[in-house]
Amino acid sequence: MMNWKPQETSLISRQEDSPANIINFHTNEDATGGFLNKRGDSPANTINFHTNEDTAGGFVKFVSISPEETFNTGLSLAALLIPGSVVALKGDLGSGKTMLAKGIIKGLGINENITSPTYTIISEYQHSPALYHIDVYRLNNDKDFEDIGGPEIINSGGISIIEWSERIPNSIPANAITISLEITGHSTRKIVINGIKSL
Ligand SMILES: Nc1ncnc2c1ncn2[C@@H]1O[C@H](COP(=O)(O)OP(=O)(O)OP(=O)(O)O)[C@@H](O)[C@H]1O
Ligand SMILES: [Mg+2]
Repeated sequence: MMNWKPQETSLISRQEDSPANIINFHTNEDATGGFLNKRGDSPANTINFHTNEDTAGGFVKFVSISPEETFNTGLSLAALLIPGSVVALKGDLGSGKTMLAKGIIKGLGINENITSPTYTIISEYQHSPALYHIDVYRLNNDKDFEDIGGPEIINSGGISIIEWSERIPNSIPANAITISLEITGHSTRKIVINGIKSL
């Protein structure tokens, strides 16, 4: 397998010279995607997504081979988020949700120590727009989320990252970017990103 080189390539980017509606995914060789369009001049490991498809939205699927790669996925994803974006993370304990969230938060320019909000449920970071890191592991369902004012928070125009989003399925907006992480080995995680159209 090709070595992942986070310093040299960012996983997700909008190229200066590409139309606004194209996002490039630079992936390791195991990646596949939906609605992909490989340009003649693009490297074999680049997938170009046309994000204005009037369909359910494209996806990209790849295997992260290290915690750093998962962190870097978040780092590069951050550049594409806009006010109101909701990133819904799902996957088992230890699948890498917090690792990915830390990458997004760092990528948004937050330098303070990022901790897991499992006990506080919602952490807010100083950022414009407002930035919320939410972990609903300790909630049972959508009703619990409503009781703590969750829907108002994620619909307030800020950027929200939600771990254990599968616990509150009805509270996740239809245009959310959903990312599922699956443990496939000691240091490998299958990552599927959906809702790319809304990036
Ligand atoms: N490819 C990988 N991507 C992400 N994490 C990995 C990978 N390989 C190994 N790991 C390890 O898996 C763990 C992921 O922990 P993390 O806290 O991010 O998971 P989580 O999904 O947030 O779990 P929880 O549900 O308990 O909050 C870390 O210890 C990390 O080092
Ligand atoms: Mg976590």
